[in-house]
Amino acid sequence: MKLIRARDYAHMSRQAANIISAQVILKPDSVLGLATGSSPIGAYRQLIDWFNKGDVDFSKIKTVNLDEYIGLNAENEQSYAYFMRKNFFDHINVRSENTFIPCGMNTDEAQECARYDALIRSLGGIDLQLLGLGPNGHIGFNEPDDVFTKGTHRVELTEATIQANKRFFESEEEVPRAAYTMGICDIMQALRVVMVVSGEEKAEIVKKAFFGPVTPRVPASILQLHKDFTLVADEAALKCF
Ligand code: F6R
Repeated sequence: MKLIRARDYAHMSRQAANIISAQVILKPDSVLGLATGSSPIGAYRQLIDWFNKGDVDFSKIKTVNLDEYIGLNAENEQSYAYFMRKNFFDHINVRSENTFIPCGMNTDEAQECARYDALIRSLGGIDLQLLGLGPNGHIGFNEPDDVFTKGTHRVELTEATIQANKRFFESEEEVPRAAYTMGICDIMQALRVVMVVSGEEKAEIVKKAFFGPVTPRVPASILQLHKDFTLVADEAALKCF
């Protein structure tokens, strides 16, 4: 594991954007695994800025997102599909037909999960997976559990995740209770994994996940075993060291 210590959120975002842009410059047809949430927004903004300056070209990339709420369609402003268009895709030259995300409206769960795993395989796997860190150690929506779930699956969101995500909704009741998420194996098979973490409220979980035992009770801890994992965290998130 490589650790990049950033001063603050803005610095963390630029450091992560540097890694992502280098990936795209070196391999223009990269498959990028992407995340939603507040942590990667700054990196997306920085990449948009460099795109506007002509420094990075996204015309050949393909993207696969980690997760999507079940029951929200892609036009719903709370869906992750909408988030990605608003915060990234609409501002760069990625082709929309090359952006993929689980379909929250597919009620055939087994079919949707198998479809998404097959899709990732058909793209040749993920070159670089960007991650945030949930307050309980989740990655994607792989919540603390007795086992690591390998492939894409349906997950019931934990109370901690519902509480953390309600800030994006009008009320807590509106937060969907289930999601589709890539599994741990999908994430671990990415050639390179980059996680962005910011803020004091993540400091305890950063310590548990990356400096404690590897356990499905802290799903992100599995990343300690990844051969090319970079944690980009700001001083506040690293304050337990
Ligand atoms: C988002 C995702 C989640 C978030 C995590 C952290 O696609 O998969 O695992 O990365 O919940 O969220 P923020 O960045 O909002 O603290």
